[in-house]
Amino acid sequence: TENSTVSITIVGASGDLAKKKIFPALFALYYEGCLPEHFSIFGYARSKMTDAELRVMVSRTLTCRIDKRENCDEKMEQFLQRCFYHSGQYDSQEHFRDLDRKLKEHEAGRVSNRLFYLSIPPNIFVDAVKCASVSASAANGWTRVIVEKPFGRDSESSAALTKSLKQYLDEDQIFRIDHYLGKELVENLSVLRFSNLIFEPLWSRQYIRNVQFIFSENFGTEGRGGYFDNYGIVRDIMQNHLLQILALFAMETPVSLDAEDIRNEKVKVLRSMRTLTLDDIVIGQYKGDTRGGVTYPGYIDDNTVPKDSLTPTFAAAALFIDNPRWDGVPFLMKAGKALHKRGAEIRVQFRHVPGNLYKKTFGTDLDQATNELVIRVQPDEAIYLKINNKVPGLGMRLDRSNLNLLYAARYSKEIPDAYERLLLDAIEGERRLFIRSDELDAAWSLFTPVLKEIEEKKVTPEYYPYGSRGPVIAHYLAARHKVRWGDIIEDE
Ligand code: BG6
Repeated sequence: TENSTVSITIVGASGDLAKKKIFPALFALYYEGCLPEHFSIFGYARSKMTDAELRVMVSRTLTCRIDKRENCDEKMEQFLQRCFYHSGQYDSQEHFRDLDRKLKEHEAGRVSNRLFYLSIPPNIFVDAVKCASVSASAANGWTRVIVEKPFGRDSESSAALTKSLKQYLDEDQIFRIDHYLGKELVENLSVLRFSNLIFEPLWSRQYIRNVQFIFSENFGTEGRGGYFDNYGIVRDIMQNHLLQILALFAMETPVSLDAEDIRNEKVKVLRSMRTLTLDDIVIGQYKGDTRGGVTYPGYIDDNTVPKDSLTPTFAAAALFIDNPRWDGVPFLMKAGKALHKRGAEIRVQFRHVPGNLYKKTFGTDLDQATNELVIRVQPDEAIYLKINNKVPGLGMRLDRSNLNLLYAARYSKEIPDAYERLLLDAIEGERRLFIRSDELDAAWSLFTPVLKEIEEKKVTPEYYPYGSRGPVIAHYLAARHKVRWGDIIEDE
C-alpha cells in the first residue's frame, strides 16, 4: 500500500548467486512493474564498496530480454538508483544495527517490511539470521528471510539448523528456496494433472508403469568443487529438486491451492515413501577425457577437490511410494554433471495395451509401443505425448508420433526465471513454492541412511568420461525394475 515500504537486503551481495540470479530477477520484477511503489534494495557483504560501485557491479549483471528492449536503459537507471550498499561482517550485531539505521532512513516513517536474502555459505547462516533478526527486524511490518540450500547435509544437521533458525524466527518467516519449484513447467504440473480430465484418471499404478525424473548437465562442477565435494549430487539435486518434483507429481489432490493444503499433501506422499537402501542407488564420478583434440577435466582435477574424493557427481536411484495409488511403481531418478546433454525432464511411461490388436505389427518389441508423456522442464520447455499411429498409405505400418506442446511455438513471451517468481512470492507472503520444515525432514529421512552407508563403506563410484552418457550401472539399476531410461532431449 501507499504507506508501506519493502526493503530487500541481499546478504552476500558480491557472491555468484546474487550476481547471476538475484539482482537480475529483481530488475525483471521492477521492469514488469511487480515491485511495490516504495522499495529499496541493499547489498550487504564484507568488502568495502560504495553505492556507486555496487551499481556498476549490478549493472553488469542486468540484461533486457529480447522481447522487451523498450525503455530498458531508462528503467535500469531508475532501478540502480534504488540499490544501495552496506559493508559489514555477517556475525556482527553492530554492523546490522548500522544497516537498520540506513534502512530506516529509506523507509521514511512508512510501515516497514523487510526481506533478507541469505546468499552466503551455510556455516554463517545462523549468525547472520541472528544478527538480522536481533538488530535489523522491521519495527512495525513483516520480516522474512529467504534461505538457500544446503539445509544441512543429513537429518541431524538439518534438524539442528532448523532448531537454530527457530530461535530467531518463526516458521512463517522462513522461506526455504528450492528454485526448481519456481520453474514454469514444474508449476504447470498440477495444472496438467488437475485441470484436464484425461490425465488424472490414468495417474496411478493401474496405468503408469514407471516415472523418471532426469537431471543432466553438460558441464562439470567447475569452480564449485569446494562446495560440491562436501555434498555430492544426491544432496545437490536429488534430495531437493528431483524429490520436490516427484512429490508434486505423485501427491493426492489437495483440498485447495492454499500453501498449507498443498504442502500437507506433499509431506504425506514423502512420508509414504520407502527409505532408500544401498540396493536402490548407484553412483558415478566423471573422469577426464580427450576428444577431437580437446581435453576435458575430471572431477578430481579441480584443485579445490581432494585427489582421492569419492564424491558422486552422478547418481541413479529407484524410489517407491507405499500407498494405494503407487504401490509397486518404480520412480526412477537420475542426476549427473558432465554428461552429454543439458536438460531436465519428467518421463511417464504407461503400461502396455492389454491384448493389443497390433501386436504383430510392432514385432516383438512392445516396449517401443507404450505411450509416454514427457514434461520437459528445460531447455526448450515442452509437454508431449507419444502415441502410435498408422503411417499413411495402403499398407499397415505403425509409427510413433508426438502430440506436442512446444512452449516456444505456442507462446512468444519469454518464460520468467524461477527466481523472479520466488522473489515475488516471498514479497507477497505466498508460501506455496517454499519448503516447510516437515517436508524437509521427510526428504532427509529418505536419503540420510543410504548417504551414510555410502560414505562409511567408501563405495567407489563408477567412473564415466566427461561428456558421456554416464555410467553403465544406471542401466542395470533400471533393468532390475524392468525399466529402460528415456533418452532425454531426444530429436523430434
Ligand atoms: C543448483 C545446484 O541447486 O541447481 C547446481 O546446486 C545446479 O549444482 C543447479 O547446477 C541447476 O539449476 P538450473 O536452474 O540451472 O537447472
